[in-house]
Amino acid sequence: MSKFGKNEMTRRDFVKTASTALAVTAVSGIVPTFAIGGTAKVKVGVLLPFTGTYAMLGTHILAAMKLRIAQNGDKLGGREVEFIVIDSEADVSKSTQHTNKLIKKEAVDFLVGPVHSGIGMNMARMVKGKKVIMIVPNAGANQITGEFCAPNIFRTSFSSWQTAYPAGDAMLKAGHKKVALMYFNYAFGKQTAAAFKESFIPGGGEIVADMPTPFPKGEFQSYFTKVAALKPDAVFTFYSGGVAIKFMKDYAAAGFQGKIPLWGTFLTEGTSHKAGSASEGILTTLHYSSELENATNVKFKKDFKGATGDEADVFAIQGFDTGSLMIQGMDAVKGDTGATEALTKAMNSSKIDSPRGMFSFSKANHPIQDIYLREVKGGLNKVVGVAAKALEDPAIGCKA
Ligand code: BEZ
Repeated sequence: MSKFGKNEMTRRDFVKTASTALAVTAVSGIVPTFAIGGTAKVKVGVLLPFTGTYAMLGTHILAAMKLRIAQNGDKLGGREVEFIVIDSEADVSKSTQHTNKLIKKEAVDFLVGPVHSGIGMNMARMVKGKKVIMIVPNAGANQITGEFCAPNIFRTSFSSWQTAYPAGDAMLKAGHKKVALMYFNYAFGKQTAAAFKESFIPGGGEIVADMPTPFPKGEFQSYFTKVAALKPDAVFTFYSGGVAIKFMKDYAAAGFQGKIPLWGTFLTEGTSHKAGSASEGILTTLHYSSELENATNVKFKKDFKGATGDEADVFAIQGFDTGSLMIQGMDAVKGDTGATEALTKAMNSSKIDSPRGMFSFSKANHPIQDIYLREVKGGLNKVVGVAAKALEDPAIGCKA
């Protein structure tokens, strides 16, 4: 490890480095803009879940972000990288303490996280307008790039509106007029249901049951009793991670599979092979499918499998693209994390060659991207259409 490996410079180191920089200036006439920062590692703070129902999501995001940085010689803007990783446990009540540890005690340059929207809103509130650059590699709460938007807050994933709004139209086109809703009862689930209704109801659809279920529990029997009694044309959902697998299995065991079509956004993502035949036929609207045939995706799937032994999924590609975003920004300022304005401007204008397809960022630092319609066939999320092309989140409340 280099002597500055932990960002702890002794006074002697400081004086030595500063006088070396001055000597370089005197000899070459070139003014080093960040002689001291340039020798230190870039600090990347990570707040993701590694336990609980979202454990797989956090694990894939971190592994793929590290993979992307490894492909760049383990460097950002020519500087080595130090990761400081905290398990969020998807617990909102611990998120203030965790975020403070990373931004105050560790003074990280980049803050990457979280998965859970409740934590994401808290973190965004805490870092808005600060020097640290936050990159959200999952949490979809609209407010993160809406009312909390700021030049130093980026998202490489999606918003609840962006993934669920196209589903309303898609379900109407599939002939489903009476739909029951089931979703985790917290910000992201509630916003998913609201965005779905925004396109579904004006298009002539009717919500016959609106059933939020407690997070992170996976007890569905009483809700299924209602579904059986109401016999809707279809059910639309938001579940993810371990509970999504249980949901699909319970839905099939209740006798609904093949009878009451099951739709969602994230339901089958990274989970379809684990749910086995219970996932067959489920339709979802999302910004990625492992079955996309672009060259970046083909290579990414192979590299990710080689690095982790796991199949790629949307969470992994969001981590990968977070790495790409940091690389592009840090290259533009040659590793000078002190040049915050130039760095965030370069990040905003970057074009990301993502496994989901190329994308750019809106003024609110949010991806403008295609939303695919996918159907599980043979355990795979096959692309059966594009539900919305180059969809931009409306970023309601963003004044940036
Ligand atoms: C969220 O809380 O924003 C979220 C969690 C898991 C999957 C998708 C979204």
